[in-house]
Amino acid sequence: MVRTLIAGNWKMNGLNSSLKEVEAIVDRLSGLADGADILLCPPATMIGAMASMAGDRLKVGGQCCHNKTSGAHTGDISAEMLVDAGATYVIVGHSERRDDHAERSAYVKSQAGAALRAGLVPIVCVGEEYAQRKRGETAEVIERIMRKSLPEMPSGGHGLVVAYEPKWAIGTGEIPTMAEIGEVHALIRKVLVDNYGMEGLKMPILYGGSMKPGNAAEILAVADVNGGLIGGASLKADDFMSIYEAAIN
Ligand code: PGA
Repeated sequence: MVRTLIAGNWKMNGLNSSLKEVEAIVDRLSGLADGADILLCPPATMIGAMASMAGDRLKVGGQCCHNKTSGAHTGDISAEMLVDAGATYVIVGHSERRDDHAERSAYVKSQAGAALRAGLVPIVCVGEEYAQRKRGETAEVIERIMRKSLPEMPSGGHGLVVAYEPKWAIGTGEIPTMAEIGEVHALIRKVLVDNYGMEGLKMPILYGGSMKPGNAAEILAVADVNGGLIGGASLKADDFMSIYEAAIN
């Protein structure tokens, strides 16, 4: 059994005033069974403050990291710095990073490797474009991106998470059918096992793209869906916690 992970990605949203949402999450968590892991990835400016109020249930993560430890890379943040600020996870290869910052799979692999080196769990994102799905290329695209993006696992690595995020489902309200999600997740599991052997059976595979309180239970019931990576619906404690409750019920 893979433990479910409900992960929120705040993207470029959140000011110190948003910490009241974190307070509400921590408060609501205290009354709920510890049936799944829960993580928030705020902007880097908020990681320290969030980590200091997160308690022992809510985990905090970064949204990307550089592949080097330190150096002359203005504006970048290393995996070691994320750890220093209180993070335990980091998202790498999100399609918005791939598009906005031209982060290609070879670089994503090195970022994931940097995360493991620093002791973070990388959440490696993969997903197809709508046109690729229409052309029947989804499986080929996902497998290719995974093979190029997955890092070598050092002994003592703290694990790895893969998020399946169809690009056309992100922030659009559109989602694939449950059968389509199931097919891609089964493929991802197979590639993980090919790559990491038995360890690949233990790695959570998240679904991301317009996951909401209204569709979470159905998506989370699909085989090999071990959680969600949630953008818009993670910004409000109520929505995010409704999704968490769907995961533990
Ligand atoms: P969304 O974003 O939930 O707003 O669609 C998901 C993501 O990009 O991780």
